[in-house]
Amino acid sequence: MTGIAVLGSTNMDLVAYAAIAPKRGETVTGREFRTIPGGKGANQAVAAARAGGDVSMIGAVGSDEFGVRLRHTLESSGVDTDLLHTAEGPSGTAHIVVDDEGGNSIVVIPGANGTITALAPGEEALIATADTLLLQLELPLSAVLDGARAARRHGVRTVLTPAPAQPLPLELLSATDLLVPNEHEAATLAGVADPHRAAETLLRQVPEVVITLGSAGSLYASRDTAPLTVPAPQVTAVDTTGAGDTFVGALAVALGEGKPIEQALAWASAAAALCVQRPGASTSMPYRPEIDAS
Ligand code: ATP
Ligand code: RIB
Repeated sequence: MTGIAVLGSTNMDLVAYAAIAPKRGETVTGREFRTIPGGKGANQAVAAARAGGDVSMIGAVGSDEFGVRLRHTLESSGVDTDLLHTAEGPSGTAHIVVDDEGGNSIVVIPGANGTITALAPGEEALIATADTLLLQLELPLSAVLDGARAARRHGVRTVLTPAPAQPLPLELLSATDLLVPNEHEAATLAGVADPHRAAETLLRQVPEVVITLGSAGSLYASRDTAPLTVPAPQVTAVDTTGAGDTFVGALAVALGEGKPIEQALAWASAAAALCVQRPGASTSMPYRPEIDAS
């Protein structure tokens, strides 16, 4: 029995901190290098578990040392890893440059994540026991689709983060209950830059959308209610890596507990605002008492 199942990626983030990210053909001297457990799937699992959710992770780490650390980070945050495979070969890695404004650019090398092409035996049974399935796009699309279909068969609420941005099969959108793109992903999927118009367009395919707008907060839209804009707390961001994942993990917990949407969005925004004030992905994700107190 699990409240939140996550089918997604694990990456070791290889992070270079530099004043300004280099342009093509340019070399810059940075300040610091860190290896920090991340990956959109693992981040959402860690964020949800620390926010108080009962969370299980489906995915893979590699057979290298990064894999050991990635698994440990999930487990020490309270995530069940019984269905987290160890695939022979390297773990996924994300090569990240974080600049002095806290912004980032990322190249992801899938590694072990690329071995998850479909649900394995036992994984549909786990999804069937969950209230919510969290999906992102760092596993092969065939596996994401498999997960979404399984969730649909068992009446499990599906929350899709459509990142990294890419065109999506209609079947995946039709099996999604709540879509949570950032502004750029929303523009890519909807073909229109304005978030309100993008939300309107996306509602033709999914019943509910939250577009995250960075320091400007988030925009919620559904087929049944008027759009809702929720501001982000005013904070100084040092590293926004994992902010979207923290937001989604906390939102899933809040909605699972039956919080009304406006309250759930405000709580998720508080969690994400804590995340951006500290460096790294998993390293910056808050535990529940901190979210409640902020
Ligand atoms: P990332 O890829 O960096 O993890 P994202 O691009 O998926 O993030 P954003 O829209 O940038 O998503 O941020 C997600 C949420 O995090 C926002 O809706 C907001 O609640 C919070 N957030 C992001 N940046 C800031 C900031 N500078 N100050 C306060 N909150 C922030
Ligand atoms: O969403 C943030 C994550 O994206 C990072 O942790 C990195 O692994 C990339 O996949």
